[in-house]
Amino acid sequence: MFFVLSGVWLCRSFMIHDLLYSLVLLFALAVVGWTLLYERRTKICAMPVMPWVMRAAFGLLAAHDPDRARACKIADLGCGWGGPMMRLAGCYPHAQVTGYELSLWPYLVSKFRAMFCARVRVARADFLATDLCEYDILFCYLSPWHMEALKPQFARLRKGTRIVSCAFEITGRTPVATAHVPGPVRTPVFLYVV
Ligand SMILES: C[S@@+](CC[C@H](N)C(=O)[O-])C[C@H]1O[C@@H](n2cnc3c(N)ncnc32)[C@H](O)[C@@H]1O
Repeated sequence: MFFVLSGVWLCRSFMIHDLLYSLVLLFALAVVGWTLLYERRTKICAMPVMPWVMRAAFGLLAAHDPDRARACKIADLGCGWGGPMMRLAGCYPHAQVTGYELSLWPYLVSKFRAMFCARVRVARADFLATDLCEYDILFCYLSPWHMEALKPQFARLRKGTRIVSCAFEITGRTPVATAHVPGPVRTPVFLYVV
């Protein structure tokens, strides 16, 4: 009897284990597949900026925009999984931070993270079809294609708006400061003041 019951218990736990394993695997595949599907629409993957590059970007901003205590509006164009967006909210304690994200899973993760800070909002919206004039600071970690596509919106920004771009410059504009961040891949960071 003992062996029969132990056998049944073992089979059950293996079945539950297998089922759980399959569910986790399916979920992971769905997240990766869905994110790759969105990549075709957004022309970029949801790759987060490296922490040391983000630190350099914030360092440039701090050097050229020392008044972090002022109330201002900040946008992370393509906020991905929400890392820089949340860090910006931490660095600017009185700022309203908006993250724009189209890709479903990164959007959901960012939205979840934003629940813990009332000053952070995440919009499932195309930043290329959004009026960006209200912002004082724009954070970008995109691609040369996006930086080119954003040019008409950059041209309409208010005087004094800061654009910090990790890795990709805005051709035709002169940055007020540039940092070259050492690491496995040497990455430039550009700061523009409109
Ligand atoms: C390279 S990731 C950067 C993520 C985040 N800013 C970071 O540095 O960790 C670029 C993100 O922009 C999003 N994206 C690209 N084009 C977009 C658009 N037109 N509107 C909204 N999000 C977009 C992509 O889905 C992707 O998650």
